[in-house]
Amino acid sequence: TATDLSAVLAGARLLPVLTVPSAASAGPLADALAAGGARCAEVTFRTPDAERVVKAMAAHGGLAVGAGTVLTREQAERAVAAGARFLVSPGFDNDVIDAGRALGVPVVPGVASATELMRALKAGVDTVKLFPAEPLGGPAMLRALAAPFPRARFVPTGGIGPDRLSAYLDHPAVLAVGGSWIATPGHLKRGAYDEIRRLTAEAVERSAP
Ligand code: 3PG
Repeated sequence: TATDLSAVLAGARLLPVLTVPSAASAGPLADALAAGGARCAEVTFRTPDAERVVKAMAAHGGLAVGAGTVLTREQAERAVAAGARFLVSPGFDNDVIDAGRALGVPVVPGVASATELMRALKAGVDTVKLFPAEPLGGPAMLRALAAPFPRARFVPTGGIGPDRLSAYLDHPAVLAVGGSWIATPGHLKRGAYDEIRRLTAEAVERSAP
């Protein structure tokens, strides 16, 4: 297992963030994402089925599946046991970082300030999630925050839509952009997998280097 997020993402610049109420959606969702050209996905631990969703989507084989909204060591352990290849958190927590290290998977902690970024770098974590990217000030915030920290790599997430992808990805310190617009619980409820595939393809095209 790779312990560096860039190795897991392998060049993928779009990270769909998925909140999936029922594991019954996992198969068709993975199919739609892969058909649209996505190569990774983050499944948030905000639903009781999250573990089963990670497991089913990882079994699909076409996507590097990680877990999101990982707040505790215990969630980190459950996520990796289910097949998560990376862990994303909305904030910085030492227990989650330690758990990822012990489990051999990269942890991407959320940071919203220079102080939080310094804490991550001190803990040996170079790749962070700028969260919530749009409310924080968007690409202007990213540029200002990245400038003093040449070692840092960012996955901006939070309030980003297709029209803003390139504004972030143009910055050399951005590894990938995360977002939930590609597949929402509403899409899943309606079984709108064609729309998910279309939104994925559009975003993948817009995130091409
Ligand atoms: C997350 O947990 O990363 C966010 O919910 C995703 O942000 P978005 O829903 O604003 O895209």
